[in-house]
Formats: sequence, structure tokens, C-alpha cells
Amino acid sequence: MVDRRTLLQAGVGLAAAGMFPHAVRAQTPRAEYNLVAAIARSPILGERRPGTEVWSYNGSLPGPEIRVRQGKPVRIIVRNDLSESTTVHWHGIRLPNNMDGVPDLTQRPIAPGESFTYEFTPPDAGTFWYHSHSNSLQQLGRGLAGPLIVEEAERYPVDRDLVWMFADWRLTADAQIASGFGNAMEAAMSGRVGNTVTVNGAISGGEQVHAGERIRLRLINGALARIMALRFEGHRPVVIAVDGQPCEPHQPADGRVLLGPAMRIDIVLDLQGEPGRRYAVRDDFYEDLAYTVTHLNYGANAASRTTRDNYVPLPGNPLPEPDLAGAEPHQIVLQGGMMGGGMMHDMGGMSGMAHDASWSINGHSMTGDGQGGMPPLLTLPQGRSIVLKMQNQTAWWHPMHLHGYSFKLLRRNGAPVPYRQWGDTVLLAPNDNVDVAFVADHPGKWMLHCHITDHQVSGMMSVLDVS
Ligand code: C2O
Ligand code: CU
Repeated sequence: MVDRRTLLQAGVGLAAAGMFPHAVRAQTPRAEYNLVAAIARSPILGERRPGTEVWSYNGSLPGPEIRVRQGKPVRIIVRNDLSESTTVHWHGIRLPNNMDGVPDLTQRPIAPGESFTYEFTPPDAGTFWYHSHSNSLQQLGRGLAGPLIVEEAERYPVDRDLVWMFADWRLTADAQIASGFGNAMEAAMSGRVGNTVTVNGAISGGEQVHAGERIRLRLINGALARIMALRFEGHRPVVIAVDGQPCEPHQPADGRVLLGPAMRIDIVLDLQGEPGRRYAVRDDFYEDLAYTVTHLNYGANAASRTTRDNYVPLPGNPLPEPDLAGAEPHQIVLQGGMMGGGMMHDMGGMSGMAHDASWSINGHSMTGDGQGGMPPLLTLPQGRSIVLKMQNQTAWWHPMHLHGYSFKLLRRNGAPVPYRQWGDTVLLAPNDNVDVAFVADHPGKWMLHCHITDHQVSGMMSVLDVS
């Protein structure tokens, strides 16, 4: 046999390369995607209602599913056909800082008509997502987001792997997106919570399932502000990953899957319902405002499989384990917003507060989507283990997101967090204290902000400089 090198030097092309599958694989170009951000029309309320004017990637809601392999390079070329500049943030991916998509802080915004090429190699398998990070209230709120799935080297043992990406819209009677983004009163409260929740870009008639199946369901909350708490009528979800990162398989407290904006939870569902029946999936996070998000619609065929009680954990991701004994602790104090009764919170001590700011982190309020000159809240020595002690001193919930890292959830209100959970977005209830830890192993200016977009743009945002 001729060796492979000789063949390649001889310029023998693909036909001959078929004889050498390994050589072919080594030469396979990186996974490449094209995203075009532009105005489109989308049947959010179904084909029988007027289409909604949205801003979307490739004309679809949500944006196309990007599905790549762990440890394999990805190239995504983003073209901006909007009439304002944009950037794309790859939420939850540990990547080089100049690929993080924060306008002016990590890259020059992509001007109308221009393109930008993002390149990174995702080290972690899991459920992630991508979204605009420019004029976020409107660009995310009008639809610029999509799922980003990084596959494990080996398939997880389920019959099917499904993605449910949620979004929340405030629609007018004629099915158009209501104006009024950035309302100051809302910004100081729960943020812009809408009136229409979609699953994968449209209101959902239900997911067709079969009795006896076991499915992996990747839940992504892509809403601007809506927190969700899902109950699966007649079913027992088992959580296997949080924000893409594997955890010990467990049933969520109360059987309720809690999902703040930007958070992802992967569950395994054993479909042991009755053939032909339908089961509601309800969101009852906001008291008195529970509604049905979708259904599990069982086909008529009877179960063909017996119950399995074992839930295999996902293989671990290569996350550096923080050295807790030697870690550098930092306080992150969240303040501001309206009190529950509608009174302004005591703003004493909130120095440097811009006029339109409602929120602060450690007394500072950075507003907007990211800016070039943002002074870092903290400078962290590269390679050090860091503990962030977050204290929510407000009367509102906050999903706090750190760019470029996944952190280990250590303690909530003094109690250890069970099931070895990691995340990139942690939901703090009013007055919660949460400690998280990570190794500051890659340099750059990384944002730490609330993912309720109104809170972020009105002050609950900061930058951590790892250098
Ligand atoms: Cu998904 Cu700065 O956010
Ligand atoms: Cu918040």
C-alpha cells in the first residue's frame, strides 16, 4: 500500500482519500455556519394569523440550530442586514475574549452591511445558545437568538434528543411586537414580561411523543425577562445538566423546573403516560398567572418498553476545579429597583449612579450592552481560583450571568448546593446569597450582568478583568 503522505503529495484528491477514512476526517474543514441578521416575518401565532415582523437570523425563529462537536473548531460568519449595528454572544461557551461578542468591549460592532467571522473551539459539550448583544432589549426582544448545541463524543442513551427554546413576546392585537422597550418603571421592577410564550418560535400545539420512549429535552429560556417554572403533568423530569454542564441526575425540588432568562436545563423524561392522551406542561412561576406552555401529545400506540430507573450521568466536561482553600473571595452586592410595595428602594450609598440607572453592583451602575471604556469592577489575577459571594439586596429576582466561564455553585443562603451543579447564569431570589467559584484561567474583559435585559441595561452590569 502507498502511504498516505505520498498520496497527498501526489495531489490525489477526494476519490482516493476515501480509502483512508482517518486522513479524510483529519482534513475535514471546520464546521462552518452563516448567519444573516435581518428583518423577517414569522408566524408566531400560527399560519392562520398575520405574520409578526421580527428581527431574526436567516429568517427563522429561533435562529438556526447550530449543532457542533465538542472540541472541534467552529466558524460562524455573521452578516448584518439590519439598519443598526450588531454583535453575537455565544452564551455559556468558554472561548477567547475577542470572540465573546460584546460591542466595543471585545470587538468593534458589526455595522450594517458588514460581516464578522467568529471562530472558537467549544471545550464543553452541552446546551448553549447565541443571541445579539447589541441594543439587546430590542435585538433579543425582536428575535435575534438561537440554540447552540455541543454534542458529546458519545451519544447519550435516549430515544430522542429535543430542543425547546422558549421566547416571550409582547404582542399587540394585530400580532405585532409592541413598542415601548426600555420603559423605566418596568426596568425597575420585573422587566419586560410579555403576553405570548413560544416554543421554538411559535405558540405550541404540543410535542408528539410515544408511550415508552425516553427523551432528552434541552430547555432554553431565551426570554428577555420572563422567569419560568415548568411542571410536567403526570411526568417526573430528571435534571441531567444545568447551563450545559452535567450534574448528578436528580429530580428538581417540587418537581418544578426553574428557568430564569438565559438558563438552560437538560432533563430526561420517561414517557409513561397513557397512549392517546395529552398532558399539559405548565409554567406557574408568577402566582395567579399560571398558563400552559405546551403539551405532550401521546400517539395511540401502547408502550413497548418497560420502565428504567437508572439515569446515567453525562460524561464530565474539562472544567478546571477551583481550589477553594486558596481562592480569592469577592463580594458582589446587588441593589436597587422598586420595593415590593412600589416605593423606591433606599438608594443611600449608591454612588456614581447614572440618571437612568435603576440598579447597581457594588454601588456602581453600568448601563447599556457593553462599552469600550468600562472600568472593571474587579481585576482578577489569571490562574487564580475566585469565589464570588453574590448578595441580592433587592426585592426582585436576578439571573446573574458571567461571560466566558462556568462556575461551580457552592452555597445558597449558607447551605451547600447539591448534585454538583455548575452554571454560567445563577438565579437569585429576593434577598438570596449565593457563592460560586471558578478558576480565572483565560484572560480578558468578561461581563457579569443580570440577564433580565431591562436590569442589565439599566445598571446591573459590570466587567471582570482577568489579566
Ligand atoms: Cu447571554 Cu451578556 O449575555
Ligand atoms: Cu436582574
